[in-house]
Amino acid sequence: MLKRTKYCGHISEEDLGKEVILNGWVHRVRNHGGVVFIDLRDREGIVQCVVEEKDNPQAYEVADRLKSEYVVAIRGTVRRRPPGTENPRLKTGNYEVVIQKIEILNTSEPLPFPVDEETPLSEETRLRYRYLDLRRESMKENLLFRHRAYQVVRQVFLKHGFVEIETPFLTKSTPEGARDFLVPSRLHPGKFYALPQSPQLFKQVLMVAGFDRYFQIVKCLRDEDLRADRQPEFTQIDFEMSFVDEEDVISFSEELIATLFKELLGVELKRPFERLSYQEALERFGSDKPDRRFGLELIDLTDIFRNTEFKVFRQAIEGGGVVKAINFKGSNLSRKEIDELTQFVQSLGAKGLAWIKVEENKLNSPIVKFFSEQELKGLLEKTQAQVGDVIFFSADKKELVYKILGNLRLHIGKRYNLIDTSKFDVLWVVDFPLMEWDEEEKRFVSLHHPFTSPKEEHIPLLEEALKTEDLEEEKRLVHSVRARAYDLVINGYEVGGGSIRIHRREVQELVFKLLGISELEAKEKFGFLLEAFRYGAPPHGGLAFGFDRLLAVMRGLDSIRDVIAFPKTQKGICPLTGAPDYVEPKQLKELHIKVVE
Ligand code: AMO
Ligand code: AMP
Repeated sequence: MLKRTKYCGHISEEDLGKEVILNGWVHRVRNHGGVVFIDLRDREGIVQCVVEEKDNPQAYEVADRLKSEYVVAIRGTVRRRPPGTENPRLKTGNYEVVIQKIEILNTSEPLPFPVDEETPLSEETRLRYRYLDLRRESMKENLLFRHRAYQVVRQVFLKHGFVEIETPFLTKSTPEGARDFLVPSRLHPGKFYALPQSPQLFKQVLMVAGFDRYFQIVKCLRDEDLRADRQPEFTQIDFEMSFVDEEDVISFSEELIATLFKELLGVELKRPFERLSYQEALERFGSDKPDRRFGLELIDLTDIFRNTEFKVFRQAIEGGGVVKAINFKGSNLSRKEIDELTQFVQSLGAKGLAWIKVEENKLNSPIVKFFSEQELKGLLEKTQAQVGDVIFFSADKKELVYKILGNLRLHIGKRYNLIDTSKFDVLWVVDFPLMEWDEEEKRFVSLHHPFTSPKEEHIPLLEEALKTEDLEEEKRLVHSVRARAYDLVINGYEVGGGSIRIHRREVQELVFKLLGISELEAKEKFGFLLEAFRYGAPPHGGLAFGFDRLLAVMRGLDSIRDVIAFPKTQKGICPLTGAPDYVEPKQLKELHIKVVE
């Protein structure tokens, strides 16, 4: 076999006049009668190879038999393409390889789809033939980008004295809020390992062990409903540091992210990154992961409509809710477009979507007739209404209004191309509440995880909350407690999150009590961590980035599946291998498992 001396994509000026051997796939082959052109492709790119019948009848005969995706070795000499025949779309477009010899290393059956960027393909087809999908330029670039990112990440960790340590996959449940994937134990009938939702507990144990600065690029497994930015197995850039506060973790994180952007995209991010409180993020954008690359901020009108005749608004406010609006400026939406947006919010659970269209000399709206002159004046002032604007209102419980208008804002932003995609919007969301009340479960739940430290000055509020008998008072107290937690948000995606942890036993017990985690349950679930904390736990904190999300955002991709070599479909299936699948009865028996239909 002729063995490669050069990648196709690397052919350049310095190779002119030299002999090279290329190994690759036939991307395209054209016979122009007496001349065959072969676009040969490998990992690094494509180069044109050419053979003329009159110069080399033997090689010409082989070239004439080639078909798409045959695997070949070509020996030839590099020359400049004749003037006028250059291809500016190819990196190697000024050169071609004059073929001396071709070896066919393997043939290929006709492909189920061509290796190009144009043919529309379903997700199912792409994942079923992932090896062909990955031959496409864009997908190949995504994976090579990912490869370069690993190297940069490792460099930054090394520069700052972090130690890379692996943590187990066969373990106990880690509380990150999703369902566990379980693995039955053959040796211990009825017992199960849980696959880690994150290395959270182990990295904290490593701090107790004295490792001080740990990192890992690690798979995490969560059995949750899938979306474009969620996979059941995904990768985190996980780290933990001892003897630090928020500022240390944030500043290191910024260096890591800024270095990635600089080295991989040539983009200089402005440091320090901006910070926004959780409260402000919700009030202005209706989301704790705002995309600020466009306006359409939420405007609070509750005070203006407190005594209004309009029942929908008044009842919402009387019931403890709010009235908020967004003004889609200069949009001149048609009635049909307004109806479409109404349908969109109704699918999110909105009861309706009141609106006003500001027209020359008139407010076109089914609801203005209910408003007093003063309400109207206040409303137009606060929304800075002008002719051409369409104002949308949502009146309901605060959380629902955030959800409705936050999503409507994003929907309009995308549908009407308001988003400036040339920019990266990078920000920290800080001052998260430690816990929130879960109405369904009738208990408090952690916003991050139960090991997240409350702000020191808020600990007395937790103590008070535990003492009071009045649930409303307890909720008020607990909700005013802020966590020492931080999320990194880029372009509206939560790409990372972390916190300073609780390292004092009495604070951890207080938090468990408020979360309704009994001593027994705590001991069963994470007794090993609590026990470790008894033997000199240093103050510590850390963070984990969602590596896949980060890469997708950096490359402007809509789905994290495009930066993962072998992802699952939205239904959690791998069409390539057919997983998940049934197993042999014998295997089940060994595992002491009976499937109940
Ligand atoms: P968290 O649960 O916020 O924190 O996860 C950290 C980051 O991981 C990414 N992520 C996901 N990416 C793809 N698919 C998923 N199903 C998925 N779930 C999460 C997100 C998220 O910001 N142990 C803590 C970190 C810490 O406190 O140090 C943790 O796992 O980008
Ligand atoms: P109705 O009185 O229910 O016909 O509603 C009058 C207008 O208010 C309609 O345009 C509805 O879409 C809108 N609307 C109803 N409920 C809400 C709500 N909770 N928030 C905002 N607008 C609403």
